[in-house]
Amino acid sequence: MSNEAAVPTASPFLAACRGATPSRTPVWFMRQAGRSLPEYKEARAGTTMLEACSTPELVAEITMQPVRRYGVDAAIFFSDIVVPIAAIGVDVQIVPGTGPVVAEPFRTEADVKRLRNLDPCDVPYITEAIGLLVKELGDTPLIGFAGAPFTLASYLIEGGPSRDHAKTKALMKSHPEIWHGIASRLAAICGEFLRIQVEAGAQAVQLFDSWAGALSEADYRRFVLPHSTAALAGVAQSVPRIHFGVGTGHLLEAMTETGAEVSGIDFRIPLDQAAKRLPDKVLQGNLDPAVVFADDAALLAETDAVLEAAKGAKGHIFNLGHGVLPDSDPGKLKLVVDRVHEATAR
Ligand code: CP3
Repeated sequence: MSNEAAVPTASPFLAACRGATPSRTPVWFMRQAGRSLPEYKEARAGTTMLEACSTPELVAEITMQPVRRYGVDAAIFFSDIVVPIAAIGVDVQIVPGTGPVVAEPFRTEADVKRLRNLDPCDVPYITEAIGLLVKELGDTPLIGFAGAPFTLASYLIEGGPSRDHAKTKALMKSHPEIWHGIASRLAAICGEFLRIQVEAGAQAVQLFDSWAGALSEADYRRFVLPHSTAALAGVAQSVPRIHFGVGTGHLLEAMTETGAEVSGIDFRIPLDQAAKRLPDKVLQGNLDPAVVFADDAALLAETDAVLEAAKGAKGHIFNLGHGVLPDSDPGKLKLVVDRVHEATAR
């Protein structure tokens, strides 16, 4: 049942994304759903990650769990960056404790052709899960997401998680045409994955380029920026776009050239410095996820410090500076949400 009144025009999160003044500083956490929540472990028991991601009722339940528990200002769709890759038939598994593992890594011209376009028919469970969520979320907006071409390509080329991304960088330099072939096909897949989520009802998107910080600015501009820009272009006219990377202090300005309205800032760059460098961008971040393990007084002091540092920014969405760590105490995250809301209510 569609309900006009459920359109979250007064959402602090959407107001902040647009650079308007929200009724309070909105807060959500990257990886807010997942292993830190006992109800997540219970819901996931006996199901692989990719099975869970293709079961609409389970996706909706897991997406809702942190919204119920914390009262965050946005939900993030429960899925994974490799879901669209698996959906086009690539043999990829998510190995617990390791991450995505690709059976036959991508390294040749012939491999480029294995990356066909994503079609909405490949992921009917995404559309169905978002349909369920939009009804259940009411005024709380849903953030759709995708992995950016570089971060996805690194998994595909390395065959799994990598510290140095050596094979990926070697391919860029030795065979730029193969690199650009893989990255441009991934950009089309990511762009379509985002578009499908928006079409189904997601009201913002985040592009995760978690490993982009491994590149120099020159290589980022030459090998990655055009592809991330293409991935984000498809939803440019419809919803606000957040772009996030880890260890990307040297890439902040370059990453804004993708056109994203909101810049996700990791915990290594103070928000006041980011605000000076990106005066036209709304900032998202950036409490160090490890600080959640500190005692309450220290945690609240750090939360206040993030709010203070964000004061010069065009707008601020409170978040961690990377994902929630699996052993985090949910009670501590709730403390942060309440503090942000109390300290910023207008
Ligand atoms: O709440 C949310 O933020 C939404 C869900 C979400 C997941 N993965 C669920 C997940 C999001 C946004 C992601 C993105 C993702 N996946 C990224 C980019 C964000 C980042 O953290 O930098 C990356 C690099 C991946 C790849 C990936 N998938 C990794 C490294 C892992 C962890 C493997 C492990 O067990 O340590 C996954 C699996 C994964 N994705 C889990 C969850 C909840 C854990 C699986 C489980 O609970 O069994």
